[in-house]
Amino acid sequence: MIQPPPTYWDYLQLDALLSLQGGLERDESKLLPDELHFVLVHQTFELWFKLLLSELRLARDHLAEPRVPEEHVPFVVHHLRRGGTILEHTIDAFRVMETLTPQDFLAFRDKLVPASGFQSFQMRELEILLGLEEAQRAAYAGSNPLDHIEKLAGDTPAGRLARERLQAVRGERTLRAALHDWLHRTPIHGSSPGDPGDEGVVERFLADYLARLRAGHAEKLARLTAVLATDPAALARQLEASTDAARDFLEARDVDDAARPRARRVRAGALFIESYRELPLLAWPRLLLDTVVELEEQLVLWRTRHARMVERVIGRRVGTGGSSGVDYLDQTARHRIFGELWTVRAVLLARDALPGPAASDRYGFAPG
Ligand code: HEM
Repeated sequence: MIQPPPTYWDYLQLDALLSLQGGLERDESKLLPDELHFVLVHQTFELWFKLLLSELRLARDHLAEPRVPEEHVPFVVHHLRRGGTILEHTIDAFRVMETLTPQDFLAFRDKLVPASGFQSFQMRELEILLGLEEAQRAAYAGSNPLDHIEKLAGDTPAGRLARERLQAVRGERTLRAALHDWLHRTPIHGSSPGDPGDEGVVERFLADYLARLRAGHAEKLARLTAVLATDPAALARQLEASTDAARDFLEARDVDDAARPRARRVRAGALFIESYRELPLLAWPRLLLDTVVELEEQLVLWRTRHARMVERVIGRRVGTGGSSGVDYLDQTARHRIFGELWTVRAVLLARDALPGPAASDRYGFAPG
């Protein structure tokens, strides 16, 4: 039998796709005109989330290899960058959402209670896959947001999917864990974990960094005090506090004893890559770190933009899902999953304040 030629509508299954906007009634003719808009915008976000999750898994899989070959690093960057671009694109879509006027939304808002974007299990998957720790989550009506979803996920097809997907993602390696394993293996001044004397090399790198940072702060204090008629003691305290924070970070004082050596090496790895990015073999790794920060930046901007859109449409009233609304949403924009990469930016030294890298021949391209 001769197969019909492929068509656009069959390839995209447009018959199925365009029949999914019936809302709770499963009947599009019963929707208010603004409700079709509301359903469609949300569905579009969920489709983008689907692609975003797939991109992050591809990036994570490359990065989780026991040894990541140099030529695989660009793939990680490629998939992460697409993920960040998807988030950036959906931020623009809030513009479409907020054409919904406050009063037109009120016409159907109450029938949605307790449904809420809060139950977007793909957003939760995204957070878990990236590596958000449960302790970092903003409290939702006093309970863990994931328990809340589990409680509401009844025996409908979508409810079962929500439960299955959350259960599965909790068993997966996170992007943060894969990134830390990779950073942990970063050669520092030519020394890798397991090499004789590696701990000493890492220790000296961090101590030297801190000493140079301290010297830079002392010099800054002298210059500021000379030109500013401010309180020099207050200025000194501020710079001292910032050096102490840098010391606590580099020595991983926030981490318990057992995990501290690993955390220090991870931080040293990130700092080394950011400091010596002109070494050929560190150029892609530095781009990778920058792309991770950019991805998280887009996520924080997404959360902030969503909160402003919500404030515009419903003001500061309680959400349909039962949270405090805008206040809760603003809290979710505070945490950073890749906190170490953000903090490294606060301790980084200028290139001319750094010593040259030892064993720099180890970071060159292999002769072709
Ligand atoms: C008029 C439009 C919208 C309003 C008024 C609104 C309102 C809210 C409110 C108040 C919350 C907090 C939870 C609650 O108490 O319900 C929330 C959470 C959320 N919304 Fe929206 N939203 C809107 C559109 C969207 C769109 C288009 C998306 C895209 C997927 C979305 C995704 C989310 C997500 C993922 C959360 C959970 C945030 C978190 O807990 O981290 N919302 N929304």
